[in-house]
Amino acid sequence: MTVIGVASVKGSPGVTAFALALATTWPGSALLAELDASGGDLAGYHGLQPDPGIASLATEFRRERDPEVLTRHTQTLLSGLKVIAAPAHPAQAYAAINALAPALPALFPKLLRDTMLIADLGRLVGPSVELARSTDRLLVLARAHLTDLAHLDGLPPNAELVLVGRGPYPPKEVTDALGLKVRAHIRHDPVAQAFLEGRRRRTRLVRAAEELSATLATFVQLEPTP
Ligand SMILES: Nc1ncnc2c1ncn2[C@@H]1O[C@H](COP(=O)(O)OP(=O)(O)OP(=O)(O)O)[C@@H](O)[C@H]1O
Ligand SMILES: [Mg+2]
Repeated sequence: MTVIGVASVKGSPGVTAFALALATTWPGSALLAELDASGGDLAGYHGLQPDPGIASLATEFRRERDPEVLTRHTQTLLSGLKVIAAPAHPAQAYAAINALAPALPALFPKLLRDTMLIADLGRLVGPSVELARSTDRLLVLARAHLTDLAHLDGLPPNAELVLVGRGPYPPKEVTDALGLKVRAHIRHDPVAQAFLEGRRRRTRLVRAAEELSATLATFVQLEPTP
C-alpha cells in the first residue's frame, strides 16, 4: 500500500477537505483514513456510526495485525468512497492514534496492495509526527501568509507544501525561503464546506485535487510497492 499523508502545522487550512478531495478524485482504488489525533469531522458531516472506524481499528490492532485489518473498519460515504473515520471526541481520537502510531507504519507495505491510502493526519503533533514520517508522500497544507509559513520549520524530511488561498508569497519565494517544495497551490473555494458535507461534488477544490491526484498517481506507478 502506498500512503499519502495530508497534514497541517497550525490553524485549520483545509486538511480534511483536501484529503477528501484527493481520495475522491484518486484515479484508482482509494481509502481515506482520518488519523487526526484532535478528533474527526467526517462522521459528523456524513452521519456515520461511531464504529467501525479508527477507534475500533486501534482496539483490534492491539490483538491482531493481519494485512486485511483496515478493510474491517471502513464505512462507505454516499459517493462510494470508503473511509475510516476518527471519533469526534479529541481524547478518544488521541488515544486511538497514540495506540496505532508505533505499529501501523510497519504494516503499510503489506496492507491493501492495490489501494491508495489517503491519511488525514490533522496537525503534526505528538503521535501524528511518527505517522507522517512513514508516509510515502506528505502534503502539508498552509496558508500563503507569513503567520502560517512561520510555523513550518522542522517538518519531516518527506514533507512538501500545498499552499492554500491568496497570499503575498509566490510558491518560488516560499521554496527559496523555507527549502520546501511547493507541490500545489490551491485557491480559496467558497463552497468547500458543501463539498466536505457531501452536498457538492465538482468544486474548485475538487478540480485542484484531481489535477494533483493525476500527477501523484504517475509517480506512484513508478515506485512499485515492495
Ligand atoms: N480551499 C478552501 N477554501 C476555502 N475554505 C476552505 C477550503 N478548504 C476548507 N475550507 C473550509 O475551512 C474550514 C476548515 O476546513 P477543514 O475542516 O477541511 O480544515 P482542517 O485543516 O481539516 O481543520 P481541523 O484542524 O479542524 O481538522 C471549513 O469550514 C472548510 O469548509
Ligand atoms: Mg481536519
